[in-house]
Amino acid sequence: MTKRDIEEIGKYIYDRYIVKTGIDGWKHILQTVHFGIMIAAGENIDVIDPVVIGCYLHDIGRGREKKGQSHGEAGYQYCLSHKEEIFMYLKKYDISETVFEEIIEAVRIHDKGKITNHLISGCIWDADRLSLVRFNNKIVNPDLLSTNTAKKLIDYANRCEI
Ligand SMILES: [Fe+2]
Ligand SMILES: [Fe+2]
Repeated sequence: MTKRDIEEIGKYIYDRYIVKTGIDGWKHILQTVHFGIMIAAGENIDVIDPVVIGCYLHDIGRGREKKGQSHGEAGYQYCLSHKEEIFMYLKKYDISETVFEEIIEAVRIHDKGKITNHLISGCIWDADRLSLVRFNNKIVNPDLLSTNTAKKLIDYANRCEI
């Protein structure tokens, strides 16, 4: 996946977001993608593509929550009901159906504050967590990070201008 591909996917997914502004808006999504690439590169470069896609999709449920539903679950349901078209679009990036399902499962549970051994989910969740630095003075707790790479990136995240 080239830098241009990453921007193209961003444009495709941006149009599907309801919440584009504010602290959880598109800026946060771009920051999560940026951290996700760094984490995946440090853990296993083979997961960079699914991690980029998962980071872009992770908050797509914001503004779509039904009563009592978390935004992760709402995002999962959105991806599931639009699976055909999103999956077709992503086909050019060689994402298998199994991996697509792993990505949307990561979307479903990303807001539960857990850690995971699942590599794709771990990279996506950690990228989102590093982006907690967008809240002024918020300290990222290394015990709530799934990957060693993300733990090493806490200082970088605090200084990151993206
Ligand atoms: Fe979220
Ligand atoms: Fe997020």
